[in-house]
Amino acid sequence: MKTKKGLYWAIFIAALGSVLFGVNMAAISGAVSFIKEVFVLNDTELGLVVSSMIAGCLIGAFTIGTISDKIGRRKALIIAAVLFTISALGSGAAQSSIHLMIARLIGGIAVGAVSVVVPTYISELTPPVIRGTMGTMNQLGIVVGILIAYVIDFCVVEMHDGWRYMLYSPIIFAIPFLLLTIFSFPESPRWSVMKGDLISARKVLNRIVDITEAESELKEIQNSLKVSTTNTTRVTLSDLFKGNMGKVLVIGILLAAFQQITGINAIIAYAPTIFEKTGVGGDTALLQSILVGIINFIFTLVAVWLIDKVGRKQLLLWGAAGMILFLSYITFSFYIGDVNGLGVFISILGFIAFFAASFAPVMWVVTSEIYPNKIRGLAMSVSTAISWVCTLLVVQFFPFMLGGMGGGFTFGFFLVFSVLAFLFTLIRIPETKGKSLEQIQEELGLVD
Ligand code: GLC
Repeated sequence: MKTKKGLYWAIFIAALGSVLFGVNMAAISGAVSFIKEVFVLNDTELGLVVSSMIAGCLIGAFTIGTISDKIGRRKALIIAAVLFTISALGSGAAQSSIHLMIARLIGGIAVGAVSVVVPTYISELTPPVIRGTMGTMNQLGIVVGILIAYVIDFCVVEMHDGWRYMLYSPIIFAIPFLLLTIFSFPESPRWSVMKGDLISARKVLNRIVDITEAESELKEIQNSLKVSTTNTTRVTLSDLFKGNMGKVLVIGILLAAFQQITGINAIIAYAPTIFEKTGVGGDTALLQSILVGIINFIFTLVAVWLIDKVGRKQLLLWGAAGMILFLSYITFSFYIGDVNGLGVFISILGFIAFFAASFAPVMWVVTSEIYPNKIRGLAMSVSTAISWVCTLLVVQFFPFMLGGMGGGFTFGFFLVFSVLAFLFTLIRIPETKGKSLEQIQEELGLVD
């Protein structure tokens, strides 16, 4: 298989969207205490400012599938780039908490949109043998974005109005992302074929793989679409439940939900609070965040390296096993009331490492692979929106759970879901390594 530079360039541009996902989600963490003071907010108001972005993500994720099935992946990403730009400028310049909330809601819509379109695009563009590795570029982009945001927060925190620079910071990536998606970004060939535009599809395929490969891929895509679009070209919500599709959608939804209800975002958002509870805290919160970001980044590279070698399912199983191990330690030490600060600190980093090498990237890759061409956008929207609902619930309720029920109950809860995630993977997740999207579609019985 000969791939060409054009493939990697296109994936690089798409992954800039994922970097923006990460930067937008994380940049606020260094700014919250300043925002609270400047706009004189109570905890509830501050909570609303922070979570307005996740509400936006939900809206963005849910609506973009249908839009991107209609106007294409490229135009959908251009819209996201415009929203990212408006949101960064609006957040940095905010004169009131309402203003900030609206700007963050707009940014959230863009994050929700890229969380659906980037994985979809990458999996539609990339040849099977490297589709997993290229798919993990989405997650790599997210963690690079998170890390960059922490570093920027750390660097500007002492400056006058430093929090405004934190909120302006996504602009550094939003402008290049906008320009590149407008001027240098090819449309997904699978989407072009779906719209009957074989000329564009062939042109793009010739830019990314050698000519014989391009022709055989084109044929394969055409065949799969011929079967699945025999009677209708309009896709509706009811198509999501026809035949075996309902079952496959449930697999995607559960995978997306397990990725969240095992607790990652509670841990990322509240790591400093947890460390404080164990006595390892202090005033080094931003530095700790950077450490979390570095571990997250390094172990994402493990997934990049392994996903097309050992496969998606193996990674998920090993990841869940590691998460179970570290969560057991944390749960147990909170239960017996003998919390060893260093032990919990290491266990949290261990949990993040195993999550980063497994569920984090693999969820995005597998959900972008298992749905059929015709309704991939819409189905991705649904499972991703569910993932955002779970993120919102976990992040909102974690402080109450930790405060009201204690660490043993809270981490025990995440532990139970990690065990369920392991069993679910074992029984239900299909291995998609090395197969073309059309082959996967056929094996899952999704041809009519
Ligand atoms: C995955 C999760 C996301 C999380 C991130 C952390 O992308 O989907 O919710 O914040 O990993 O690295």
